Amino acid sequence: MPRDPIVARSLPALREALNVFRAANDSVALVPTMGALHEGHLGLVREARRRCKRVAVSVFVNPTQFAPHEDFDSYPRTWDTDLAKLATENVDLVWNPGVKTMYPDGFASRIVTEGPATVDLEDRFRPHFFGGVATVVGKLFIQCRPDVAVFGEKDYQQLRVVTQMARDLDLGVEVAGLATVRESDGLAMSSRNVYLSPQERAIAPLLHRTMQETAEALRAGGDMATTLAAGAGRISAAGFALDYFEARHAETLQPIASLKDGPVRLLVAAKIGTTRLIDNIGV
Ligand code: PAF
Repeated sequence: MPRDPIVARSLPALREALNVFRAANDSVALVPTMGALHEGHLGLVREARRRCKRVAVSVFVNPTQFAPHEDFDSYPRTWDTDLAKLATENVDLVWNPGVKTMYPDGFASRIVTEGPATVDLEDRFRPHFFGGVATVVGKLFIQCRPDVAVFGEKDYQQLRVVTQMARDLDLGVEVAGLATVRESDGLAMSSRNVYLSPQERAIAPLLHRTMQETAEALRAGGDMATTLAAGAGRISAAGFALDYFEARHAETLQPIASLKDGPVRLLVAAKIGTTRLIDNIGV
């Protein structure tokens, strides 16, 4: 039987719910989301459940991680179905603050990120993004004081940035990454996939296929630069506007010239029509 989660919309309500969990000595896992929940998010919730007694999910479309020209206003908001899905997963607590609760008038402090946030991948194309993510995730960690926080590997650079931030600021949270959940044709699940037209949706899995073929070619001894250039060519020829297709060190995200210097991660970002897709795999 699905159980309705507690929904907190104010900090006192959040604290009251968390205090009950803490008084019972229950461990707490947090899954930060922006809503528009799909199977990928529910995988994170199930992982959170495996790791802790109590599961909290935040649902907050964070304005500070969107540039003015990006899709903050049109970002899918599906509260009723999100809540029903979280009830089915027996989530204990949903933290759903308003913008003024997270960023009250006069808000003037931000977390500045370096290291994996400044490696010329997403940060080159979305320079505002990691400052906004780190600030909101830092606040969520301080507000919820989870033992564990679970993030998807699909936003791989974000996972590295948040892991580094939690460590650097001694936030006392274990950041856990979970493998990307994919559609049957390989397309990484994403709330933004709803923007794809049927034609774009048909082309989109080529990103994952190309990463797999590139990883195989590299494992077979292919030269890094030549193999990546061939993959980039295939992505562009399929109609994508490619932002980057790169091999990086899986932990530092620094450029890497050979598999020997690994572990290696392939990362891609490309636009099909007006929709920007990102994805990554290990080699
Ligand atoms: O990955 C997301 O959905 C968001 O970037 C996050 C981590 C919830 C912060 O707003």
